[in-house]
Amino acid sequence: MSESTKSQRSQNELGCSLDIVLNSLLNRRLSRNQLRRLTTVPCGMVDFSSNAYLSLSSQSAVQQAFLTRLQAAASTPENAGPALLGSGGSRLLDGNSSYAESLERTIAAFHGAQAGLLFNSAMDANVGLFSCVPQPGDVIVYDELIHASVHDGMRMSRAGQKVPFRHNRVWDVPGARSLNKSLEEVLGSLIHGPDGHLFQSGDRHVFIAVEGIYSMDGDVAPLAEIVDCVERYLPQRNGYIVVDEAHSIGILGKRGRGLVCELGLEQRVWARVLGFGKALGCTGGIILCSPITRAYLINYARTLIYTTAMAFPTLASIETVYGFLTTGQAEPLLHNLRLLIREAHKAFEELCIRENAPAELLRVSKEKPESPIIPIFTSQPRSLAGYCQTRGFMVRPIVAPTVPKGRERIRVCIHAANSMPEIRGLVETVAAWLATWRTADLTKAMILQQRSEADGQVSLASKREVVDKAKL
Ligand SMILES: Cc1ncc(COP(=O)(O)O)c(C=O)c1O
Repeated sequence: MSESTKSQRSQNELGCSLDIVLNSLLNRRLSRNQLRRLTTVPCGMVDFSSNAYLSLSSQSAVQQAFLTRLQAAASTPENAGPALLGSGGSRLLDGNSSYAESLERTIAAFHGAQAGLLFNSAMDANVGLFSCVPQPGDVIVYDELIHASVHDGMRMSRAGQKVPFRHNRVWDVPGARSLNKSLEEVLGSLIHGPDGHLFQSGDRHVFIAVEGIYSMDGDVAPLAEIVDCVERYLPQRNGYIVVDEAHSIGILGKRGRGLVCELGLEQRVWARVLGFGKALGCTGGIILCSPITRAYLINYARTLIYTTAMAFPTLASIETVYGFLTTGQAEPLLHNLRLLIREAHKAFEELCIRENAPAELLRVSKEKPESPIIPIFTSQPRSLAGYCQTRGFMVRPIVAPTVPKGRERIRVCIHAANSMPEIRGLVETVAAWLATWRTADLTKAMILQQRSEADGQVSLASKREVVDKAKL
């Protein structure tokens, strides 16, 4: 059944006036080709899409260690062990446990932080933090590509201003023109603005929100420069940097400790938000911070207070994978992942050169990737993703508004458990797609040409031009 028929049918099924409003909004999305749908991944697809970069949850040793923990908890006499299914309430009521508190200490110690507070997701952690910590009159300065969860937290926050800066642009570039300013310019305008004396004296706080690895571009924040810039413009130590390391833990730093640890910035970054749902293959998140901030969050973060705490199996899964990280058992996976990332990028770069791919149809960044996320830019992301999917490779199209218009892409994620033949298979599938696209374009151009010739309007020179263009 076509999409238009489907939406027509649901028009007839509309029950109340709200349904009519909702349906018209859905139809608007449909007409813009932006309708979101839930899908399931068919069995047997090669995963180039999920965020489980280290493939930890599919390792039998990890599965076994996790099951052993569950089994041990299940065999503990009643009332002496954890509730196996649910936690029974909020962390502030009956959902807390010494197991959760001990896990927080273990994770904080591994990442060189003073304290940690678990949340049900990194989304909850960001919303909780940004909605309650900034005080009236404070300012949040954020990278323009920051995750939606930080935006949601900011929306609820009492901060006086929320100001974006250009993605990863720390310092001013003379003559550069863009909508958003550099971080340096934003901080400069704050300290020289109407309330400048309050920022200069340290009475107003400035929160700077960045990510370790950006989820759509896979690039890494220039964190050392960000820290230098913030300390230079806010020398009273009232610049509070928050690094979302959802995509960088497990990947960057020694044994996957993350970007802050890789650069030795533990003392100069105010807080970190880690997510366990990406490289670590679990769910949940944690805020690494000072004990005072932790105590404040316990009192004010609504996404912690008004929700049922993580269940034991979730805590046990996180503890299991941290066991693999801390003991170095995950090192071979990380090593293999880094190798595959380099090879995959090289293969895509070679493909673009070999096929002389037109930049709008296929382009990959020349910079060597530092993360498992390799965006393959194309003006036809749905066509390319669909072509790959029907041939057994799961990749997703990423379109506006998730990324800016003109930056559409397929997002290729490499995993430790991918193999070189799988990567070569994906690259050759992309090459085959490019060929079909060219053939289709050439055929279209020929038809147009024939029509024009019949009309007697086209010279030989322009005929050649059309065909050459289509061959691109
Ligand atoms: C940068 C970033 N932060 C936070 C989150 C939220 O993570 P979680 O899935 O744990 O809610 C995501 C997930 O999409 C993310 O990409």
